[in-house]
Amino acid sequence: MIVTTKQLFEAAYGKYAIGAYNINNLEQCMGLFRGNLDSKAPFIIQISKGARSYTHKEMLEGMIRSAEKVFPDAIFAVHLDHGDEQTCYDCINSGFYSSVMIDASHENFDENVAITKRVVDAAHAKGLVVEAELGQLGGVEEHVQVAEADAKLTDPKQAKEFVARTGVDSLACAIGTSHGAFKFSGTQGLHFDVLSEIQKRLPGFPLVMHGSSSVPQEEVERINKAGGNLKGAKGVDASQFKQAAKLGVTKINIDTDGRLVWTRVHREFFLEKPENFDLRPPGKVFMAEYAKFIADKNEKLGSAGTLDEVRKLVS
Ligand code: G3H
Ligand code: 13P
Ligand code: ZN
Repeated sequence: MIVTTKQLFEAAYGKYAIGAYNINNLEQCMGLFRGNLDSKAPFIIQISKGARSYTHKEMLEGMIRSAEKVFPDAIFAVHLDHGDEQTCYDCINSGFYSSVMIDASHENFDENVAITKRVVDAAHAKGLVVEAELGQLGGVEEHVQVAEADAKLTDPKQAKEFVARTGVDSLACAIGTSHGAFKFSGTQGLHFDVLSEIQKRLPGFPLVMHGSSSVPQEEVERINKAGGNLKGAKGVDASQFKQAAKLGVTKINIDTDGRLVWTRVHREFFLEKPENFDLRPPGKVFMAEYAKFIADKNEKLGSAGTLDEVRKLVS
């Protein structure tokens, strides 16, 4: 059943976070649905602009609609990840997406407000909900002076003004994470102080954490052992997810970790079976491993086991 992120956030707020997973292809789609059903968790499917154009935007839509029939017990939202204004309108008008993210965080504050407000108005008119971003992810390193580092994190006062002026439904905040497999040059740490200040000013308002892959060291080692070169890859400590959830984080975005599973499975498979040239055997291993990875992640997010309760709330 496709629901809005807003419905999922109402169920989760303050208790756990919903996993928001990026997918690009059929194998990820199958593993995603299986893993979430195995762990009895609601989830968010994230589709980036790049994913929409990897084959054709209608291919992903068709796949997800089929998955909905194949896995009738699943409860999920379909979300555009990091959209620009035009892509948001395309998704809003498609009749398929249940929410969009407008990412104008690189613009100045007033321009970010203006663009986000336009998208919110268009989305709300069609019953979709909107996530926006304030602050800038990445580049917040230990060696950077505090003043400089703080300038990149979300300003709690601005967050309150941003939400009031735009009418947005959830807010992605920069609290120290970054996208990709190389996060934190020193010791890792989320800025819970900033998160707590944002929650004080926006009580009950759903917050989103991007760049939340954990980049498991065991996964990195296996990839490197099988011919990869991911030296120095590092991610977010997943044991911090539940603390973030208590402070209002209801959506946690994970893409890179899934790519690492894909890379490990395929590197190891072809290293062990150099004579093989069939795409289905490693594809089957990947779907099973991806499902396991999703179920494990949902345990860490606290969303595992909540599906029946969420079903009662949304039906
Ligand atoms: O935050 C970005 C996501 O990881 C999506 O990545 O744009 O390469 O699909 P992508
Ligand atoms: P990761 O690169 O840490 O997986 O973050 C993904 C993300 O934020 C997607 O929007
Ligand atoms: Zn992101």
